[in-house]
Amino acid sequence: MLLVTGGAGFIGSNFILSTLAEAGEAIVNLDKLTYAGNLRNLDALSSDARHIFLRGDIGDRALVKQALERHRPRAIVHFAAESHVDRSIVGPADFIQTNIVGTGSLLEEVRAYWDTLQGAQRTDFRFLHVSTDEVYGSLGPTDPAFSETTAYAPNSPYAASKAASDHLVRAYHHTYGLPTLTSNCSNNYGPYQFPEKLIPLVIRNALAGEPLPVYGDGKQVRDWLYVLDHCTAVRRILEAGRVGETYNIGGGSEKKNLDVVRTICAILDEARPRAKGSYADQITFVKDRPGHDRRYAIDGAKLGTELGWQAKETFETGLRKTVRWYLDHPAWTEEVTSGAYRNWVETNYARRGAA
Ligand code: NAD
Ligand code: TYD
Repeated sequence: MLLVTGGAGFIGSNFILSTLAEAGEAIVNLDKLTYAGNLRNLDALSSDARHIFLRGDIGDRALVKQALERHRPRAIVHFAAESHVDRSIVGPADFIQTNIVGTGSLLEEVRAYWDTLQGAQRTDFRFLHVSTDEVYGSLGPTDPAFSETTAYAPNSPYAASKAASDHLVRAYHHTYGLPTLTSNCSNNYGPYQFPEKLIPLVIRNALAGEPLPVYGDGKQVRDWLYVLDHCTAVRRILEAGRVGETYNIGGGSEKKNLDVVRTICAILDEARPRAKGSYADQITFVKDRPGHDRRYAIDGAKLGTELGWQAKETFETGLRKTVRWYLDHPAWTEEVTSGAYRNWVETNYARRGAA
């Protein structure tokens, strides 16, 4: 039995779907269902007894204690977090609460549970903390990529809250011996990503005939990884990672934002041509994000050489699959972009205005 937190979100739901497709082990999914959590992502499992959904907050100690005692998981895979940089700039409090206080409280309950385990159950237990490359800060154009020994230098409230949670996980291993693993991954994309993040937002806006907002000069660089590749890396680290270690996960696909947006437009021009012109005509430069990190890049050598993991998708194949998924699932996007989503888009993009 695995206990997954945040399993109704983008990466968590892809992780649960792909893990259950491969193995027989049951999964308890603890998720608060914030705006980013969507049980529809897991519709395919509605009659699968191996998926046990538990609505709740990782910071609810009584609930977490009860869930651990009842289900007795052999490992925790911790995805739950507030995850959007722009939202962390508008309101950091939820990020501090869930990512720092929530993770701290989860670690306390997990430690208490782990203390009750004996023998192989105790030594084989794992707490895998899913984190981000944003904890390392920003790179210059010729700087070497982030490795596991790069000093932490988080720049946004989101990155700072994830960095703090990474430090807590490290301390629980160092101080109490809790068998932890931490992964720091680059930008993900793929099915079920909430359309507040760049790639799904651009696909949605393009199809809706709305502006495609590019922050600043659009020359910021991100390293993109297809979400199902992230999921295989997480499974590999869980299976064979060395306790107490951290592993960087990257896609080896550094791209400028403007090139990402243009590539999406080109795929859409082919798959669903506009009546006139190109989707690229909708590109609009808007005011930059405050403190915007210029470049992220991952040195994934440790995961590759130690654990033999490799991404399957290239950016080109992964992006095509992603665009196809959004074209085939308009109802999913429609459902998640009503109400609260509209309010967010108005607040965020009205603040920015035209560049
Ligand atoms: P997401 O925002 O899509 O999903 C987060 C999930 O966590 C949602 O289902 C939400 O309901 C749940 N959640 C939030 N607060 C909670 C709480 N207090 N208790 C229980 N559940 C709660 O995020 P994502 O993009 O799937 O990211 C998952 C994890 O991966 C995060 O920890 C994030 O920092 C990390 N990560 C994301 C990326 C990326 O590109 N998306 C890259 C690297 C690392
Ligand atoms: P995002 O998907 O929010 O991920 P992150 O900030 O965690 O990297 O943004 C990816 C990049 O795209 C980032 O450099 C900000 C930029 N961006 C835009 O240019 N326009 C947008 O509307 C959004 C949401 C992001």
